[in-house]
Amino acid sequence: MNKATASKVIVTGGCGYIGSHTVIELQQSGFDVIVVDDLSNSSAETIDRSVQITGKSPVFVNLDLKDEKACYSFFKEHQEASGVIHFAAHKAVGESVQKPLMYYQNNFFSLINCLSAMHELEMNNFIFSSSATVYGTPETLPITESEQTQRPFSPYGNTKKVAEEILEDFIDSTDKFAAISLRYFNPIGAHDSGLIGELPSGIPNNLMPYITQTAAGVREKLMIFGNDYPTKDGTPIRDYIHVVDLAKAHVVAIQRLLDKKKKKNYEIFNLGTGIGYSVMDVIQTFEEVSGQKLNYEITDRRPGDVPFLFASTDLAKEKLGWVAEKNLSEMISSSWEWERNFRNKNK
Ligand code: UD1
Repeated sequence: MNKATASKVIVTGGCGYIGSHTVIELQQSGFDVIVVDDLSNSSAETIDRSVQITGKSPVFVNLDLKDEKACYSFFKEHQEASGVIHFAAHKAVGESVQKPLMYYQNNFFSLINCLSAMHELEMNNFIFSSSATVYGTPETLPITESEQTQRPFSPYGNTKKVAEEILEDFIDSTDKFAAISLRYFNPIGAHDSGLIGELPSGIPNNLMPYITQTAAGVREKLMIFGNDYPTKDGTPIRDYIHVVDLAKAHVVAIQRLLDKKKKKNYEIFNLGTGIGYSVMDVIQTFEEVSGQKLNYEITDRRPGDVPFLFASTDLAKEKLGWVAEKNLSEMISSSWEWERNFRNKNK
């Protein structure tokens, strides 16, 4: 895509973990990007870092999308954008159990305000950031997109499942609007530049940041939540995917929506590698790539964890022409590189 034909894309939550990597991939594919973020769980510094990587500045707007009027004005000002990628949402599972109303309010109001503004302004292309959490405890593996969704264990997970349903109902009511929901498996890793990566606030919920923070001396030890699952080594199996691979999938998804010949009203794609690794596999690979022993201990199972979760990637390959390229060692070494860079800078 050359400059004259560059399309503009709005990225909500573009300062967050997956959003920021997607902004970079969009810019490197020739899109002009408008980031809207309320910085509630991220920093505007991410924008400066993406400029260092791409040499291009996205437009940045600091805005809470729960504010209906402000949200509408923002979309009106940027109504020439050809598509919207909606990441902005709260995402901490544990916090969502403590504060379910805050999660429902934030994740639904922002989604509904974006869809309403887009509807009014006839902006018709939307990518939704969903999660494999919508499969609950799946019946068959690998999980295909046609697997029945189930009520997720956490309010966070339920916001993803219900948001997909809201989107589907809205799409059924109009013929112009088109959307793609992308169901992420377990995103880990960081940008090769070492400039952007995951930065969980407080104690991490997820495995990878917990491992790197433990190795960096920020946490004392990793607790492994159960080793009595019916898996090869007793620890749960997940489909870890590099965040840059994930970001690239958003670029092809938006290109698909913009291609009138390929455009469908609504499609759903799993984003994973299709390969499952256990918690012990992840620890072992971390120890190999870092050359460092990890301090860990086995404890009780965590409520809501399922033994196996890995994607069928056939549909994304067939329709999007997308496959994840990076392997587990590359994912883990980039997470570790990012953690070390971050700690060194903040000594
Ligand atoms: C979790 C969420 C999921 C969310 C996703 C976002 C739950 C039940 N699921 O997925 O809804 O979409 O994060 O990335 O919270 N583990 C440990 N010790 C730790 C942390 C994790 O042993 O300190 C294990 C877990 O038991 C699990 C694996 O590591 O088997 C991966 O955990 P995690 O990174 O939290 O991802 P999910 O639970 O798969």
